[in-house]
Amino acid sequence: MNEKLNGIEACVFDAYGTLFDFNTAAAGARDELGADWQKLSDLWRLKQLQYTWLRGLAGHHVEFWQVTGDALDFALAQLKIERPGLRARLMDLYLRLGAYPEVPAMLAELKARGMKLAILSNGSPAMLAALVGNAGLDGVFDAVLSVEDVGVFKPHPSVYGLAAKRLQLTPERICFLSSNGWDAYSAKAFGFRVLWCNRFGQAPERIPATPDGEIGDLGALPAWLA
Ligand code: LAC
Repeated sequence: MNEKLNGIEACVFDAYGTLFDFNTAAAGARDELGADWQKLSDLWRLKQLQYTWLRGLAGHHVEFWQVTGDALDFALAQLKIERPGLRARLMDLYLRLGAYPEVPAMLAELKARGMKLAILSNGSPAMLAALVGNAGLDGVFDAVLSVEDVGVFKPHPSVYGLAAKRLQLTPERICFLSSNGWDAYSAKAFGFRVLWCNRFGQAPERIPATPDGEIGDLGALPAWLA
């Protein structure tokens, strides 16, 4: 059910899987990967996220660019894929991921209403700048925020705190959007209002806090905002 969220002054979006489709990297190298492209994409993403959590717990932070490359190396080795130049090609594709189709019009509608817009992502500043520019979204966001400013990955509360601080808003004035269930739940536990963009039809998480609502894609977001 759509109970409108009142008093929202900013929408803050996760990047990978929410605004930008990480599957478009491996799909872009389908000519080399063949039928394995989806398997590679899934394992790459799974390992990338695991490494952010493992590094966070161990206090071994490095930029998301390195984590992404390490995860790709693992996935290629696990699937026994060895092709000269393929790693560099996939990493380059990762800088130019496609935005989900509904994203540009949804952002334009919210901006026209005067909503502040921001990205809050594990991505390093250079990765996020490349994504935004490549998708033709330069100038759309009021802030593009990277965890590099706090030196730890999501879901550390200091990451969510960075968005509230930079936007100079209390958490309940911010609507956070992520397609990653764990990110949506953790942002809710921090204090944001949260819509889980459950693109992948995932089961509810079993961690603290429950998002305010669930949408199938970001095209449904404007109708939730009063
Ligand atoms: C991000 C990952 C979690 O953009 O999708 O932060």
